[in-house]
Amino acid sequence: MQKLAIGMFDSGVGGMTVLKEVKALLPHEHIIYFGDTARVPYGNKSPQMVTKYALESALFLLTKGIKLLIIACNTSSAFALQILQRKMPIPVIGVIVPGAKEAVRNTKSCKVAVIATRTTVKSMAYDKSIRKLDPRIEVFSRACPLFVPIVEEGLENDDIARLTAEKYLGDLRGSGIDVIVMGCTHYPVLEDVIRQTLGKDIKIVHSGKETAKEAWTILNEKNLFNKRGRGKCEYFVTDTPESFHEIGGRILGETLAHVKSLKSLDYQDLLFSS
Ligand code: DGL
Repeated sequence: MQKLAIGMFDSGVGGMTVLKEVKALLPHEHIIYFGDTARVPYGNKSPQMVTKYALESALFLLTKGIKLLIIACNTSSAFALQILQRKMPIPVIGVIVPGAKEAVRNTKSCKVAVIATRTTVKSMAYDKSIRKLDPRIEVFSRACPLFVPIVEEGLENDDIARLTAEKYLGDLRGSGIDVIVMGCTHYPVLEDVIRQTLGKDIKIVHSGKETAKEAWTILNEKNLFNKRGRGKCEYFVTDTPESFHEIGGRILGETLAHVKSLKSLDYQDLLFSS
C-alpha cells in the first residue's frame, strides 16, 4: 500500500500548481496526474457535468492503483468531494476545505476574499466552508475567468495581467479584507500581480499548498508514506499532449516526462471494461 501512488485529477493543466506543492512536500511519493484536457474548462460548466467528469476521472485513477485521491480542481472539489468521499475505497481530499481553513486561521478583520471560476463562485463552496468554521466572517467572492487564459498563454508578467487584476480586484482595496484565497488552480501563477493590485499586507492563501499539507497529514496518520527512493510523476491527458507538455512544464519549472494521451476510445475502454 505504501508504494502506491497518489492520484490527482484536474480539468486540465492548472492542477500542476497543486502537483508542484505536493511534489515539494512529499518528494518520495509517486504521483499519477489525470488532466481532462479534452473537456477543459470546467469553470463554466453545470454542476451535473462537473460531477460526472469527476467520477470518471476518479474511476480512471482507481484503475491505476492509488492510495490517496486529491481533487486538484477547485470546480470539481466544489461539487464532487462528498460523493467521491462516499464512493471511493481510499481517502479523498479536495482543495476547498484546506484553503478555507487557512483563510480562517489568518483573517483578523473577519473579511476574506475568494477568487475562483464562475461555477465555483456560484456553488458558494468556499463561503460555506469558511462560514462553517467561523460564521462571523464576511466573504467577498469574485469570478475571474480571464485569469485562466492569461496564465495558459504565459502572460502573467504582461500589462494585460495587471489590467485584468485591476478590473476584477480593484474594488476590493478599501473593503477591509486582509486575506484572499486563490480558489482556482491557475491563480497562484498570478500571485505577484494580485499582490501588486491589493498591496503587500494582504495574506494570499494558496489552496493547493494547504492541500499538500493535508495530504501529508493523512499519509502520516494512516502510515502510508512511501519511505524509499524519489517519487516519479506520470501524466495522463484526454487530448493530444503538446500543450500540456508546454504549459505544464512551464508551471512546474521542469520538462515533463511520461505524458500519455488517452484517445477517447481507450479512455472509455479503461473506464468501462470490467
Ligand atoms: N481547474 C479549474 C479550477 O480550479 C480551472 C480551469 C477550468 O475552468 O477548468 O477551478
